Amino acid sequence: MGSAPGTPASESSVVEPESAGTDSVPESRPGAPRILLISGSTRPGSTNTAALRTFADIAAPAFTTELFTGLVEIPAFVPGDQPAPPPVRALRDRLAAADAVVFCAPEYAGFIPGSLKNLLEWTVGGADLHEKPVAWISVAAPGRGEGAITSLRTVLGYVGAVEIESACRRITVLGTMVGPDEKVADATVRQALAESVAAIGAYLSAAPAPREL
Ligand SMILES: Cc1cc2nc3c(=O)[nH]c(=O)nc-3n(C[C@H](O)[C@H](O)[C@H](O)COP(=O)(O)O)c2cc1C
Repeated sequence: MGSAPGTPASESSVVEPESAGTDSVPESRPGAPRILLISGSTRPGSTNTAALRTFADIAAPAFTTELFTGLVEIPAFVPGDQPAPPPVRALRDRLAAADAVVFCAPEYAGFIPGSLKNLLEWTVGGADLHEKPVAWISVAAPGRGEGAITSLRTVLGYVGAVEIESACRRITVLGTMVGPDEKVADATVRQALAESVAAIGAYLSAAPAPREL
């Protein structure tokens, strides 16, 4: 059972065996839309990951969220590598199950981190993000992080993802805002994340249901 909106989701729910590579929050109601959260930071104490963990709190119980935690396990992309390595197959399963994907990535040397670009390269051949609704959240300080946003949008456009523009947000999350629970309590940040959650909900509600053949 998930938590009420705006309150922390249960921490007892983390990582079912079949969801290795993700922090999961249990589906709180049957058929709840699924959002996969992908942080571009591998750093313990990451502000980007904390923002997504907070997003998951806020999204419950209306959404089932999974925080992808397997970025460091994704091997370097090898074109034509078949079958794909297990961490990549696990990622693809997560992407296939997701109704929407939210990215939150730091800027490294003017771009998204290479590890995230590498993850995204694995999705090119399998079209895993093709027509997938996506949003990005930047937690960089004002005036920073634009290179990460621009490069992420370029790659997401290349793989054919559909940006939910209304759900994308620039929110500053300082390291000092990350609590011992690796979440953000700051009301302004939580309000912005709640707006992003709501925008994804509105987008998915308005999207035409898949046609049955
Ligand atoms: C190798 C490296 C390169 C970085 N390059 C940039 C950069 O080009 N532009 C920028 O604004 N910040 C840059 N930063 C700062 C990070 O974006 C910033 O520390 C961010 O908060 C890290 O996110 P995290 O807290 O989720 O790990 C860089 C940090 C590292 C470690």
